[in-house]
Amino acid sequence: GKVAVLMGGDSAEREVSLMSGDGVLGALRARGVDAHAFDPSTRALGELKSDGFDRCFIVLHGRHGEDGTVQGALELMGIPYTGSGVLASSLAMDKVMTKRLWLADGLSTPRYARLAFDQQSREQVRAVPDVLGLPLIVKPPREGSSIGVTKVQGYSQMQEAVELAARYDPDVLCEEFIEGEEVTCAILGTGQYAQALPVVRIAAPDGAYDYQNKYFTDDVKYHCPSGLSPELEAEIQHLSLAAYRTLGCRGWGRADLMIRASDRKPFLLEMNTSPGMTSHSLVPMAARAAGIDYEELCVRVLSHAAL
Ligand code: DAL
Ligand code: MG
Repeated sequence: GKVAVLMGGDSAEREVSLMSGDGVLGALRARGVDAHAFDPSTRALGELKSDGFDRCFIVLHGRHGEDGTVQGALELMGIPYTGSGVLASSLAMDKVMTKRLWLADGLSTPRYARLAFDQQSREQVRAVPDVLGLPLIVKPPREGSSIGVTKVQGYSQMQEAVELAARYDPDVLCEEFIEGEEVTCAILGTGQYAQALPVVRIAAPDGAYDYQNKYFTDDVKYHCPSGLSPELEAEIQHLSLAAYRTLGCRGWGRADLMIRASDRKPFLLEMNTSPGMTSHSLVPMAARAAGIDYEELCVRVLSHAAL
């Protein structure tokens, strides 16, 4: 049957989604799937039904795509879709809710403070470094691709960082900075069949794994195999799978983590339920290291499409 590759959308990550979508579309077609691009920012989702699509591959990133809203619409229309369901998508989109659940299940994640929209007075903002220390990370809790994120080095930078994050989300997340290495762990499959792919270690210039370096430069070095000890690699995979299960994720996902330099302890930062599939993206890299090429990865993710 016809497959709609949902791409684009109206989030701040629209541009990234279009790059991901081009990749997925090409791969599915190369494997003989009758795949068509569908951008919900220009077309009504209801047309999926009238156009006779019987499955959706979701490569929308961010709000109105990765956050359970589109998933809910597809549930109502009865069209199977790739990736997590409504609740897991919605939880994973919100880094504060995600951390609350991980902490409740005893999974390691950096300490944080949430500054709700009505808790952003100068005094409240200034008090955060007293609790979390410096440097610290300020970010919009429901965004992706490092959009609106600042690494705050001193008190004087706090206000500006909170204002920047608040442009993308009325609530702001402040997080303890974990000095160390950034890694990512992709998960494929559902329930007891979910499996962690090899860990990717990211070496960005000056630790700046930001929007520009994520997609538009070749300044970042990616290591997969990670070069970590087998014990630490296994610990990260185990933690990422637990993180995936706690949120109730399905199909595929990607956990992002930091390894603290001082004691090599891994900390979960977030779970992406509609991970990037661009030429620079990490899930395709991890899959390749596991012997799964890009086309095969797309076919496998599609095979997990469900309602
Ligand atoms: N949010 C981007 C697309 C990612 O996680 O890959
Ligand atoms: Mg993300």
